[in-house]
Amino acid sequence: MKTKVLSAFSIGVVLFSSFTFQITNDNPKALKDAFKKDFLIGTALNNSQIDEKDATVNDLIKKQFNAATPENIMKSALIHPKWDTYDFTMADKLVEYGKKNNIKINGHTLIWHSQLPNFIRGIKSSDSIRTFFTDHIKTVAGRYKGKVFSWDVVNEALNEDGTLRNSVFLKHLGEGYLADAFKLAQEASPNTELYYNDYNNEQPAKRAGCIKLIKKIQESGARIDGVGIQGHWHVGKIPLKDIEESILEYSALGLKVMFTELDIEVLPRNFQGADVSQRMANSPEMNPYANGLPENVQKQLADDYEALFKLFLKHKDKVTRVTFWGVNDGDSWLNNWPVRGRTSYPLLFDRNNQPKPAYFKVVGLK
Ligand code: XIL
Repeated sequence: MKTKVLSAFSIGVVLFSSFTFQITNDNPKALKDAFKKDFLIGTALNNSQIDEKDATVNDLIKKQFNAATPENIMKSALIHPKWDTYDFTMADKLVEYGKKNNIKINGHTLIWHSQLPNFIRGIKSSDSIRTFFTDHIKTVAGRYKGKVFSWDVVNEALNEDGTLRNSVFLKHLGEGYLADAFKLAQEASPNTELYYNDYNNEQPAKRAGCIKLIKKIQESGARIDGVGIQGHWHVGKIPLKDIEESILEYSALGLKVMFTELDIEVLPRNFQGADVSQRMANSPEMNPYANGLPENVQKQLADDYEALFKLFLKHKDKVTRVTFWGVNDGDSWLNNWPVRGRTSYPLLFDRNNQPKPAYFKVVGLK
């Protein structure tokens, strides 16, 4: 009798485990549902995605993500093309898209030295830079008051050694521009979360500079709610220890920690980071996987993503959002930066919008 009960039990276990196995492999949970209780899961959106041009991609976005950052359209060159002209067309559409689909929008970005409007080059007086700076923040943050969840108020103000980048803003306005930017954003959009965002700011020297910068903003009386670590890393070289120390040190300042532009490069590059002005020439050696990703690299990519998400989950009380820099491999900026015309594989969905092994590893953690 006892044996019979046991064997019935074991059959049940076998049936049950093959059933759960099926759930996790054939029909895994969407990212946003898997991590619902932990942090938001975001993606960067380009114009064609905001315009809902491709139904498959659109379904994927709505199913997988509950946060989004515009890949380009809120940058000053695009949203503020002339001294007294703003173009809100695409940014307004993005805000509508977010509202319709329950996707929280992170504005990116108010003050950045890159992708500036052309007219900035012609400005020689500090007064005019001050006017641009003030009007830009007031107008753009004001327009999306109550409509975006958060802003990357300042992007990439630091050098690798932790000193302040000699940007047009530093040169003309002095280091007080950082706190000023947060104060202006706060006045224009009081209930929006305000962040500082950078790449490599998990690296010790740059991190120390970032902490100094944040403290200065806090001491000025301005409000800063969080810090974004962009997370443009390289396969097999994820700096897990630096990332963990950064999560702890930034959150000790009372800030939310976010991974804001996550992708893992599999292609060769001779420098680290994400300086958009850095470029390298193309050649067959620089584009080794044009016909497909070898299995061992695919596996390493999956293992790297798994290790990262394990770390994010360990600190889920401090990490509030993880945003991928793109929806699928086909539209990643890494196909064109720092080398044009390569075939990269940095995300969780492939060129056909299919989940990759990395996706199953990440969702499998839940
Ligand atoms: C990139 C976009 O993905 C590209 O389309 C554009 O040509 C250059 O900028 N850090 C940032 C992002 O903060 O805004 C950058 O986005 C990538 C690096």
